[in-house]
Amino acid sequence: MGATGATGNALLHRLLALGAPVRALTRTPHRPIPGVTDAHRPALEVRYADAADPASLRAAFEGASRLFLAMANGPAQVELETRAIDIAAQAGIGHVVKVSAPAAEPDSPVAVSRGHHAVEEHLRALGLSHTVLRPYAFMQNLLRLAPAVARGVLVGAMGEAPCNYVDCRDVGDVAAAVLTGPDVADGVHVLTGPEAVSHPELAHRISVLTGHRIRYVDLAPDELRDHLVRQAQMPAWLADHVTEIQQLAVARPEYPTDGIARVLGRPPRTLDAFLREHRDRFCR
Ligand SMILES: NC(=O)c1ccc[n+]([C@@H]2O[C@H](COP(=O)([O-])OP(=O)(O)OC[C@H]3O[C@@H](n4cnc5c(N)ncnc54)[C@H](OP(=O)(O)O)[C@@H]3O)[C@@H](O)[C@H]2O)c1
Repeated sequence: MGATGATGNALLHRLLALGAPVRALTRTPHRPIPGVTDAHRPALEVRYADAADPASLRAAFEGASRLFLAMANGPAQVELETRAIDIAAQAGIGHVVKVSAPAAEPDSPVAVSRGHHAVEEHLRALGLSHTVLRPYAFMQNLLRLAPAVARGVLVGAMGEAPCNYVDCRDVGDVAAAVLTGPDVADGVHVLTGPEAVSHPELAHRISVLTGHRIRYVDLAPDELRDHLVRQAQMPAWLADHVTEIQQLAVARPEYPTDGIARVLGRPPRTLDAFLREHRDRFCR
């Protein structure tokens, strides 16, 4: 699931490269899936599935052995994911790899993480074999900030707090390793890049890379939320989510883990490499 999304698409391309049989699910199978060309078509089955439509899930899961579950954040996320899990269990799917998030705890200060905890609990209660991936912030999120950064400003509410970033291609690689591995063991993998980087340091690195001075503007949490709703035109729930995550990074210092190296046997992709790869997006 989520074949058109950040992690699901990365996983899809890894599975195609490995030659693993894969069925890509999307609500819009008539639209191109990012990066998929006609050359991939013989190895790839694309099917319609909407987690809001149980019959579509039943049809899409038929004959499948393992499920990757990544779902867009939103008010119905817990309901949609638990439904997908129930139908996966009924369909005889033997293992689920679920994309969760840090601080997936019942009393987490981040509402989305409380939702992930509820879904993880559902998997545990059902007794379905599963692997939980808890990635920190995707480096790819930074591309959404690129237009403002190109104008010389990086806005946040994290002060000097270090923040973990992970390249979502590494999350896809970990998911592929688990899904194609001979033994799927239950487990939780906390996934980060090799270093935690503060917003002022991030602004500095992009300044050096682009040759343009990027100023970090540190706002109070309420100001950041207002800025995201008014300037970035985010929906209120998403502005709340971004603000909560930044507050969590302030309250709980972030440190890199060895989660990716333990599964893949290689170090994770670096933030500097990601910034170099997308340098033009951060330039005026
Ligand atoms: N972004 C981050 O930094 C970050 C960090 C840690 C954890 N996470 C977690 O990652 C998860 C999102 O994963 P992602 O970033 O890979 O996804 P994403 O890029 O947000 O894409 C969301 C995917 O969800 C699918 N989807 C949405 N509604 C659906 C429905 N009703 N039925 C079936 N599929 C549906 C979409 O598929 P179609 O539109 O093709 O149907 C799309 O492929 C979230 O739960 C988030 O909490 C994100």
